[in-house]
Amino acid sequence: MKKSITTFLKHPTKDNTNRSANPPVTRASTILFNSMQELIQHEKRIKANKKISYYSYGRYGSTTTIELENILKELEQAYHIFLTGTGFGGVALAIMSVCRPGDEILVSDNVYGPTKEISEDLVKEFSIKAIFYDPDNFEDLKKKLSKKTKMILVENPGSNTFEFQDLSKIVKLAKRKKILTFLDNTWGTPLYLKPLKLGFDMSFTSATKYFSGHSDAMGGSLAVNKKVFNKVMFFYKLSGYRMSADEAYLIIRGLRTLDVRLKQHYENTKIVINFLKKQKKIKDILYPYKPNSKRYKLWKKYYTGANGLFSIVIKSKQKSSVIKFVNSLKLFGIGYSWGGFESLVLLQNLRGDTKYTKKRLFFRFNKDEHIVRLHIGLEDPKDLIADLKKSLRHIK
Ligand SMILES: Cc1ncc(COP(=O)(O)O)c(C=O)c1O
Repeated sequence: MKKSITTFLKHPTKDNTNRSANPPVTRASTILFNSMQELIQHEKRIKANKKISYYSYGRYGSTTTIELENILKELEQAYHIFLTGTGFGGVALAIMSVCRPGDEILVSDNVYGPTKEISEDLVKEFSIKAIFYDPDNFEDLKKKLSKKTKMILVENPGSNTFEFQDLSKIVKLAKRKKILTFLDNTWGTPLYLKPLKLGFDMSFTSATKYFSGHSDAMGGSLAVNKKVFNKVMFFYKLSGYRMSADEAYLIIRGLRTLDVRLKQHYENTKIVINFLKKQKKIKDILYPYKPNSKRYKLWKKYYTGANGLFSIVIKSKQKSSVIKFVNSLKLFGIGYSWGGFESLVLLQNLRGDTKYTKKRLFFRFNKDEHIVRLHIGLEDPKDLIADLKKSLRHIK
């Protein structure tokens, strides 16, 4: 019987030995075999991506990480899942696995800041060139392709400014030119968008966010198709990337409620946005909520749901008053990351005027406009609105 994904997420793993409803946390470096022949046969199975329930050495994972790989394989409809200790590791793994000196990578300008740093500063050290394209202009991407382009790296929607791109167009073009494609799908998660089914070669999610959902675990998932499997496996094995059994357990636990949590984040967000859109001090809300907007149409075209992460554009000649607004919020924590149960806020710097941030090349905003990113958590939205209402008064 084919189960719905909602049912599947509740029943992915059982521990038959211990008769518990959850899998055990298997911490192991040495894995024991009955003979050398058995060990060699097992390594052959791993190399051929055959189904296994344990690895040959703890560096590659344990029974707990295999449980997680199997759940994500189903969710992503993937050939294989590579788990990493942080999301960031998954992005680096993808780039370093497929790009070699002399190659170029085309990167959407709105990628997560540190992804920009890897794809620009780190790869430069290996004679790989990153070229950034305007996520709102497909012609710009097309024009920047060259014979050296190895990979197109897309994040959808983009970090902080949440532009949505026409994903099928990118995949079609890349396939015609024999270029590999990567999508950072952390916002949508494979529950709402399956990049590999759309034709991407690599689908990445930071498991730190909604997969884990409780702000207490870190991890990355790189789902791949058969075409890139060997290349990524080669780099994965030799670079020592891995997720610990404890983090894998927490992420399995988070995934059981991914569907219900995402639905609630979305419901709460709609209520909060309904309040925010009436506020004069807010010039724009960067979220797919206006049915006639390009952002909404592209979201609807590809996604089956949305979540709690978006930005507001605040108009103010006094940046200090925007900082006061952020600081005075009581129910929104100030801190990195998102996707946990709680509401969060951050004033983003996209102008690149500090040494910690990379400048956006294509996002246009005036000097008196400030981008504040909000994550709407699972609190009562009435309380969140009261908090926002009180704090918005500080904006001058
Ligand atoms: C869109 C996106 N991709 C990747 C990452 C990196 O994930 P991690 O924090 O797990 O390293 C983040 C983290 O904020 C992110 O927002």
